[in-house]
Amino acid sequence: MTEPKRYTVTAALPYANGPLHIGHLAGAYIAADIYVRYLRLQGKDVIFVCGSDEHGAAITIKAKKENTSPQEIVDKYHQIIRDSFEKFGISFDIYHRTSEKIHYNTSQDFFRVLNDKKAFEIIESEQYFDEEAKQFLADRYIMGTCPKCSNTNAYGDQCEKCGSSLNPTDLIQPKSTLTNSTPVLKKTKHWFLKLDAQQEEIKNWLEQTAEQNNWKAHVIGQCKSWLNDGLKPRAMTRDLNWGIPVPQEINGSEGKVLYVWLDAPIGYISATKQLFLEKATKLHQFSYQHRSFENCTENDWEKYWKDASTQLVHFIGKDNIVFHCITFPAILKAHENYILPSNVPANEFMNLEGDKISTSRNWAVWLHEYLAEFPGKEDELRYCLIANMPENKDAEFTWKDFQSRVNNELAANVGNFVNRVAVLTHKFYDGKIPSKINEKDQAIFDEINALTSKVNASISAFRFKEALQFALQISSVGNKFLGDNEPWKLIKTDAQRAEEIMAVAVQICKILSDVFAPLLPQTSAKIRTQFNAFKDTILPSQILFEKITDEQIAFQIEKLNKSKQSNQQLASDIDVTEVSNSEFLPLKPEIQYDDFSKLDIRTGVIVAAERVPKADKLLKLLVDIGIEQRTIVSGIATHFQPEEIIGKNVAVLVNLAPRKLRGIESNGMILMAEDANGKLYFVNASDVQAGYTIR
Ligand code: 2FM
Ligand code: ZN
Repeated sequence: MTEPKRYTVTAALPYANGPLHIGHLAGAYIAADIYVRYLRLQGKDVIFVCGSDEHGAAITIKAKKENTSPQEIVDKYHQIIRDSFEKFGISFDIYHRTSEKIHYNTSQDFFRVLNDKKAFEIIESEQYFDEEAKQFLADRYIMGTCPKCSNTNAYGDQCEKCGSSLNPTDLIQPKSTLTNSTPVLKKTKHWFLKLDAQQEEIKNWLEQTAEQNNWKAHVIGQCKSWLNDGLKPRAMTRDLNWGIPVPQEINGSEGKVLYVWLDAPIGYISATKQLFLEKATKLHQFSYQHRSFENCTENDWEKYWKDASTQLVHFIGKDNIVFHCITFPAILKAHENYILPSNVPANEFMNLEGDKISTSRNWAVWLHEYLAEFPGKEDELRYCLIANMPENKDAEFTWKDFQSRVNNELAANVGNFVNRVAVLTHKFYDGKIPSKINEKDQAIFDEINALTSKVNASISAFRFKEALQFALQISSVGNKFLGDNEPWKLIKTDAQRAEEIMAVAVQICKILSDVFAPLLPQTSAKIRTQFNAFKDTILPSQILFEKITDEQIAFQIEKLNKSKQSNQQLASDIDVTEVSNSEFLPLKPEIQYDDFSKLDIRTGVIVAAERVPKADKLLKLLVDIGIEQRTIVSGIATHFQPEEIIGKNVAVLVNLAPRKLRGIESNGMILMAEDANGKLYFVNASDVQAGYTIR
């Protein structure tokens, strides 16, 4: 394949309805930033665009929740998000927003062109209308009972309990979340993109591009499943008062806005237009200078979107795959003249401490909080998120893992090497950099150059985790080289050889700083500064990575525990932007046998059961555990009648510390299995008497 002339790299526009968390970073932004920094260092012509996604139900629902206007919400979160990205060092050339005029114009122009080219068909359908609020209801504004699992809090587009994807009309007893009234079905017309007509074209393009550019298997898998189901026309307009109006001159446009998933990806294009407008008029501040912008004109944006020698790459999370691999390409194709993405290296999800990250449940590590609590440690988080990047499957962030990676990998490997070289350079040579390299040390450079090539190849192939591992091997090689040669001893017996060894070691620091530039830019800059850009005399040595203390970790875990507790009281509050697509919880972090062996689990038989007065959920049980009978208070009263469980075989955790519930001391815990619908089942070994040990 011929080398592309330039690159347009986009990262998903985050909804401006809440601050950024580590899931966002690990999902799209760190990967995109590594890739772009790498391309810039290779001297490539590249632009990196992003911005806030300010339309759609995600915004209006948040505004309602905070009792304010959508405009207030987007203004507030746009600033917070933009500020966090900048502080964390995500090197966008522009961070734009979809409320800007240029974006309205660009989106409306797209709509006009698609309309003129007959890419739409107008379909009349019946949709729910809230007569009190006098408006049609977005799917997320309708709640009711799920026809599949009877969850009474299912949304119009999805049941979060069983994961079924729904239409609002599937709900039993639908209610408007705006007024709590029962909505009525009313006829309305919408512009539908004729995706069905584009099926073959999209399929051929996808198959060819994915194969040629080696797309990730999970991305191809999702696309195939959409294509196999057959693409269907998809509504590109909504009856809402928040969004970009359908162009006025188009018949029937009144009260209609563009569907957020039509305008958001066009946001990449309007951000590019704005970037070149500002560059051409020299207004642009927040950017990373390189040759793409020398003597540019405001029309240069077109090269980045219309020239076939430009490579377009979208970095996104897996929940955005269909929109970037099917819908947006279909829109670009229908418009004509635009290039299509050559790759969409989507990541999967990052979970947190055994649970899905959730904005509304406050189960997240918030970027702005991290930046305030760990000042100057952006790369420590970046390192940990790259090392655990959910590139091909969901991954997990835990604070313990963060601590251990920073202390045992960054500090003990990279920090230790760089620090030893700096300290010895001061000690032996008053900080003057030794430069005499002996040819016989070429082998070490060969080894390191091979690793550097591997880092580059991995980044080019979007395998960032692997790239980081190779980069760390370079400092391992450096540490081993110092350990094998012991210049601190040699200095007494063979000063010249010691100097040669140290000259190699300093060179390795330089290579490390170069290799880290896209992966860990802050660390790269620190090494470079420490060694005075590898000229003459280095600066006083400084610790590159401080150890993360147990107290810092305990503080973070405590913070999460607090949100878990307050969540238990707020269990019904479900986030609009989060959709659970699995009936199973993510796996918890690995434990050792010792952790397990602390649990004393035994078979038992329930001998008596009664309700606990004034506690809807609790049953007081008397359980025979062989050695004795125990009183155990169990939160299963909404699932079982006391009389139906007497005589049941159960599994009991018998060494749990006693706990008082409603004044009754509970001595142990009955183990239960819970399915995705919250239904409980006893865990038991049938035909086994009380008192056996389970292990
Ligand atoms: O899922 C999201 O957070 C969307 N706001 C992503 C939009 S990506 C693009 F199309 F702009
Ligand atoms: Zn359901």
